[in-house]
Amino acid sequence: MHVIVLGSAAGGGFPQWNCNCKNCAGVRKLHPHYQARTQSSIAISADGEHWLLCNASPDVRTQINATPSLWPKSLRGSGVKEVLLVDAQIDHVTGLLSLREGCPLDVWCTPNVHADLNDGFPIFPMLSHWNGGLNWQPIKVVEDTVEYSFRVPCLPGIRLTAFTIDSNAPPYSPRRNQPSNGDNIGLYIEDRATGKSLCYAPGLGMPSALSMAYLNAADVVMVDGTLWKDDEMQAMGVGSSTGHQMGHLAASGGNGMLALLDELPASTLRFLIHINNTNPVLNAESDAFKTLDQHNIQLAHDGLHLTLE
Ligand code: MLT
Ligand code: MN
Ligand code: ZN
Repeated sequence: MHVIVLGSAAGGGFPQWNCNCKNCAGVRKLHPHYQARTQSSIAISADGEHWLLCNASPDVRTQINATPSLWPKSLRGSGVKEVLLVDAQIDHVTGLLSLREGCPLDVWCTPNVHADLNDGFPIFPMLSHWNGGLNWQPIKVVEDTVEYSFRVPCLPGIRLTAFTIDSNAPPYSPRRNQPSNGDNIGLYIEDRATGKSLCYAPGLGMPSALSMAYLNAADVVMVDGTLWKDDEMQAMGVGSSTGHQMGHLAASGGNGMLALLDELPASTLRFLIHINNTNPVLNAESDAFKTLDQHNIQLAHDGLHLTLE
């Protein structure tokens, strides 16, 4: 199984267009301790040719152009065969608009995400005017939980399991601050031939027994690295929301993401992904970055290609 990180930043990217914080200013000056990042997306393949795009970020065009495996092999075509959305956040879905030339396109998402994309951000009805538009492939919500295994045609031999995570619905959603099951999922992606697996959860507001079970089972985890401190955006004077309010678990603190990852088996390869431009780990000289290293955690970066075999 192949995994390519197309975009490792949270919403806004790195640098964010209107931000002049220390990190954003540093990366604009091409300071060697900083690396630019596009917005949150990964691609998965069984054979290196047919790819499932997990989240369609506003930067998808740049990401595809930077990734030869995703380039067309015929007059018109793409390595991207299908799309899966883990939530309906702007940084995970807006790229569908840029993929309109590839319609019809199969899009896997839960009923809640599909509802938001028909109502508050009506991408499905809009794109129905482009050559067959987007074909919804439901990720089912079973009773009052989401734990649903399925296969997608472009990934032969790979089983995907969607599991519900505690996070938040997008700011434009009628369920903002009252999320229900299916607003946010994590993915457990398992190559049945090799037994190797990836757990991908770029939004993880609060650990649960269900999410911990999949994180524990995975060979590689890619989890929410939005903030270092819960009140980091307030403390820097760039925003009013805490990580908790947005549905993101901060890295530091006794109950933070680092402490959670410490509980996983020693052999687990650990990455933070969906990193906000305010996060001090983006500076490779920072204490935060050194702390990550001590916890055996890496920062995902754009273009990272893992082969799980
Ligand atoms: C999030 O991850 O919380 C969102 O991408 C934030 C946003 O859309 O502004
Ligand atoms: Mn986001
Ligand atoms: Zn910034």
